[in-house]
Amino acid sequence: MRVLVVGGGGREHALVWKLSQSSRVDKIFCAPGNAGISETAECLDINADDTDALLNFAKYEGIDLTVVGPEVPLTAGIVDAFKKENRRIFGPDKSGAQLEGSKVFAKDFMRTYGIPTAEYKTFTAYLHAEEYVRLKGAPLVIKADGLAAGKGVIVTESVEEAIDALKLIMREKAFGSAGDRVIVEQCLRGEEASFMVLTDGKTVLPLVTSQDHKTVFDNDKGPNTGGMGAYSPAPVITKGLEKDIMKSIIRPLIKGLKKEKIQYWGVIYAGLMICGGKPYVLEFNCRFGDPEAQPVLMRLKSDLFDALKAAADGRLNDVKLSWRKDTSVCVVLASKGYPGSYEKGKTINGLDSVKGRDNLMVFHAGTDMYNGGFVTSGGRVLGVTALGKDTRDAKTTAYEAIRKIHFEGMHYRKDIADKAIKR
Ligand code: AMP
Ligand code: GLY
Repeated sequence: MRVLVVGGGGREHALVWKLSQSSRVDKIFCAPGNAGISETAECLDINADDTDALLNFAKYEGIDLTVVGPEVPLTAGIVDAFKKENRRIFGPDKSGAQLEGSKVFAKDFMRTYGIPTAEYKTFTAYLHAEEYVRLKGAPLVIKADGLAAGKGVIVTESVEEAIDALKLIMREKAFGSAGDRVIVEQCLRGEEASFMVLTDGKTVLPLVTSQDHKTVFDNDKGPNTGGMGAYSPAPVITKGLEKDIMKSIIRPLIKGLKKEKIQYWGVIYAGLMICGGKPYVLEFNCRFGDPEAQPVLMRLKSDLFDALKAAADGRLNDVKLSWRKDTSVCVVLASKGYPGSYEKGKTINGLDSVKGRDNLMVFHAGTDMYNGGFVTSGGRVLGVTALGKDTRDAKTTAYEAIRKIHFEGMHYRKDIADKAIKR
């Protein structure tokens, strides 16, 4: 079978790595991929959001399954375009991808189907939003409706900060039309966790749980990033809580999608806040989390190709997922300056010394080749991901490997997984 993976970050490297282990997969292409991915897949000079070029490639190269990593092509309708031409593709269509593409859609959906989430109100007029903020008082969370590369959510601790956030989104249009509608939301306090499932709209297969580390500095300080590290499982999600999440969130969501006639094949990612032992949805994503995919896929024993193909064919009930007992920890190595502006083209040293180990994978997120060696090309550069008999063990292995890797300005958090270890 010939597979095309769309995207070029750490999540896509993990997908390519896991797909390549399937005996059914003969050849993997990745568009655009990165230098690490090119060791396993043939990387294409096609952008992840160039649907026409991707569809042409899939047609002429006889691709059996296309797997979409990032949200932008999904919300733009890549799945609709492929399905129209009867090409097998894993991911939700444009209507399903609205769960991530529009926060207003997702919140209204949750309200309609009784899914627990923070109280909120939607605004299109700045003055009305400001009035509401003054009425409610801090803390409040201000959210741009549309996609904003993970920057459209601002948690504010005072009325002044909330008003500044409204001005930034609604008046200065910092995120363009993504800020045409704004949500003002109650601020929830608790512990965050990520809960992902595979679904074909009928069968739901939960993946193992995970927890991301959003802020750039230790102890959850500094601005939010795409994610600085993750571990799996997330002990905050106990067996009982997992049942509760399935019952109060995932089942009503699947029922709601059916009712709205949205046929959903793909991953549903629920970003959760656990408050007083109860799960609340902060956001839905329509794809695997990044970096969460890295530690989660490290733990998957089953054949990923079989699972994704079955989901894309609407027969996920044929699949059972099995997982390694080991825990996993992924630490992201980022460029100096990330999530702000950063330099590229820094030589990466030491990768050979951590290769070829069963309990360690260095997934590439933003790398390129230059003169036969690896150089940095993104904000998040590498995801050093280790398996261990427990979280402490996995953490030790990941950080030991990191000591051998170097590039100028390399920044990483030192406290990944500490929350799980302290439990
Ligand atoms: P989102 O993109 O909606 O997940 O938001 C990004 C981050 O903002 C989340 O991971 C949380 O850390 C924070 N956040 C979002 N909504 C809330 C909320 N209602 N209360 C507290 N924090 C939130
Ligand atoms: N790590 C958070 C996300 O993928 O959205």
